[in-house]
Amino acid sequence: MKAKLIANNAFTIGKIDPRIYGSFLEHMGRAVYSGIYEPGHETADAKGFREDVKALVKELNTPLIRYPGGNFVSGYNWEDGIGAVECRPKRLDLAWKTVETNEVGLHEFIGWAREADAEVNMAVNLGTGGVEEARNIVEYCNHPGGTYWSDLRKSNGAQSPFKIKTWCLGNEMDGHWQIGSKTAEEYGRLAAETAKVMRMVDPDIELVACGSSGMGMPTFASWEATVLEHTYEHVDYISLHSYYGNQKNDLSNYLAMSVGMDRFIKSVTAICDYIKAKKRSNKTVNLAFDEWNIWYHSNEKDSKNEPWQQAPPILEDIYNFEDALLLGCLLITLLKNCDRVKIACIAQLVNVIAPIMTEPGGAAWRQATFYPFMQASHYGRGTTLRHILDVPTYDCADFKDVPFVETVAIHNEDANEVVIFAVNRSADESVDLTAELQGFKIAGIIESTEICGHDVKQANAKDSCPVAPGATDNATVIDGNLSAVLKPLSWNMIRMICVLG
Ligand code: AHR
Repeated sequence: MKAKLIANNAFTIGKIDPRIYGSFLEHMGRAVYSGIYEPGHETADAKGFREDVKALVKELNTPLIRYPGGNFVSGYNWEDGIGAVECRPKRLDLAWKTVETNEVGLHEFIGWAREADAEVNMAVNLGTGGVEEARNIVEYCNHPGGTYWSDLRKSNGAQSPFKIKTWCLGNEMDGHWQIGSKTAEEYGRLAAETAKVMRMVDPDIELVACGSSGMGMPTFASWEATVLEHTYEHVDYISLHSYYGNQKNDLSNYLAMSVGMDRFIKSVTAICDYIKAKKRSNKTVNLAFDEWNIWYHSNEKDSKNEPWQQAPPILEDIYNFEDALLLGCLLITLLKNCDRVKIACIAQLVNVIAPIMTEPGGAAWRQATFYPFMQASHYGRGTTLRHILDVPTYDCADFKDVPFVETVAIHNEDANEVVIFAVNRSADESVDLTAELQGFKIAGIIESTEICGHDVKQANAKDSCPVAPGATDNATVIDGNLSAVLKPLSWNMIRMICVLG
């Protein structure tokens, strides 16, 4: 099969916000306890955080971590996580039917995130909480001093404000499972008032309103429209959440699910712009895809969990090769929508539907999905080029005209690189890809890697990680154009050295 891509340096989709490589760490399962934090582990630092896990988080190069939930945040009192650890209360976490010890709280997490080179994207509780708690936590985190909450932060050991920039106004408030779920009217009013007051405390913060918990929600679209009617002038982003799975074991349909992600993004963009038009506003509300991933492997096991355990192993999906391919398609889709998607958080980061897994008292290891994310996060920086792609398509159960190749071309101006990420969705045929990159002088290939050749169900494990990128020589530059062979079912990254010309 042949594919031809044409791009031109003058035609761009937009600058890639690095926060598109954000992630998410919720107080649930083993994400915190025996995930990032395990005093007594042989790699634990003085505060009890695992250095081996921190090193993998750094390798992933995620610049932003959403915290502390998720469903958890809708019943969480952030004050439970400050002050002397031995005085902190143990609480029932109703969202996940577990017991939260609060050993790790605000100071510990922010300190850890800094060491992992990431900013924190803090969510406030708009389930059982409201304006008051949200106002207080912004004052605690961001006010320099001389007031009750800012001085309490100081007395708890942080002289300088944490300067948390990005804040989520609750989580999935449309979902019947959410503690304190609300109608769009109820949430829209509360979110607008909360946003207003949080900004009175710190005008520099950025705010994310809750969109739908997924495109399949019965209130999808009208939820976004109503929430934005109330919040448009108070918020910067609206959230999108979506999880994907191959429950039907239908590979061609599974690999096409990024087409659904694209539709979701385009739909929410249209709703934002409809409200903008209605309000005759000069402001543009952008998108925070602050929960996205593959989630289905663990569903059956989790339905049998005993309630009220501390840090039980839940949502521990073990990812395989086909998951890595879909994850690559999803990343490419986010990159192709970088004009409107400014924040995206792979959900989650450690142990819970995560690229990084840990064994209590043992190793930390990289899942199959770790690698496409890590490569995109390191090399998918700069500007996404607009392109046209001539490639055969296929139809499957849920989608029509799905291109056999999902791809994106990125110009990294700082590194003088053009980078191509591409997934070949065909299980049978290689694709001969030619890329005409107009306006660039392509001097050569810096690096070409692929993940391919595995059984689609091949997964990584603590002692062996076969699903990982390998160097390949299947890309060449001929007369200034890229020529590459994309093997059947493959994730590819091709980095080229370029100058404008
Ligand atoms: O990421 C797991 C859960 O998925 C989150 O807590 C919730 O927001 C979503 O439903």
